[in-house]
Amino acid sequence: MALSQDELKQQVAEAAIEYVKSGIIGVGTGSTANYFIEALAKVKHKIQGAVASSEATAQRLKSHGIEVFDLNAIDGMDIYVDGADEITEHMHMLKGGGGALTREKIVAANAKKFICICDETKYVPVLGKFPLPVEVLPMARGYVARQLMKLGGQPMLRDFTTDNGNIILDVHGLTISDPIQMEAEINQIVGVVTNGLFAARPANTLLLATHDGVKTITSGIHG
Ligand code: 5RP
Repeated sequence: MALSQDELKQQVAEAAIEYVKSGIIGVGTGSTANYFIEALAKVKHKIQGAVASSEATAQRLKSHGIEVFDLNAIDGMDIYVDGADEITEHMHMLKGGGGALTREKIVAANAKKFICICDETKYVPVLGKFPLPVEVLPMARGYVARQLMKLGGQPMLRDFTTDNGNIILDVHGLTISDPIQMEAEINQIVGVVTNGLFAARPANTLLLATHDGVKTITSGIHG
């Protein structure tokens, strides 16, 4: 019988445990990351603790008895493990469906390796079908929305406040042919905190749950 999307997420989250050796682990946010936390709890004796990419992840880690470290109290991490909303063969990701994009990007920047855990529905030829989340300072909402429209997108305000007290604009209809360039361009708009393109710093390893098992991709299926 075919596995459900949730079963695929659980399978790939468990596969990521192979990369957990010791020290402090960076942990992402979302349903796939939650399955990873459950699996991590079973090997928590191997690690010192974790750095969380959201308040929700911090609470979940603590509920499993995993110590949560302040990012400023540590000197980097070997790995950061997180899901994505979309990922390409170039390891460029679109993230932020759960609204945690800014802290995710900060924690990931402190890790030597980004291990992306996804089910196969997230593996796409081009980013942008999933609306691009942009975290924005509340007072800049109108200005940023107008600039995003000039880039060809249709921004929609999400009914959500981030852990940092900001808003999210979900940008529909963008053609993201050059994710590195677009990540930089959107981040240049005054009032933008971060956007959900993770391309300047792509994933190092993609663990992809498919109906034929978990595939490990480091340089893309196509090359
Ligand atoms: C949260 C994220 C998540 O990684 C992304 O939304 C995927 O979520 P899920 O694992 O629930 O499908 O970027 O901000």
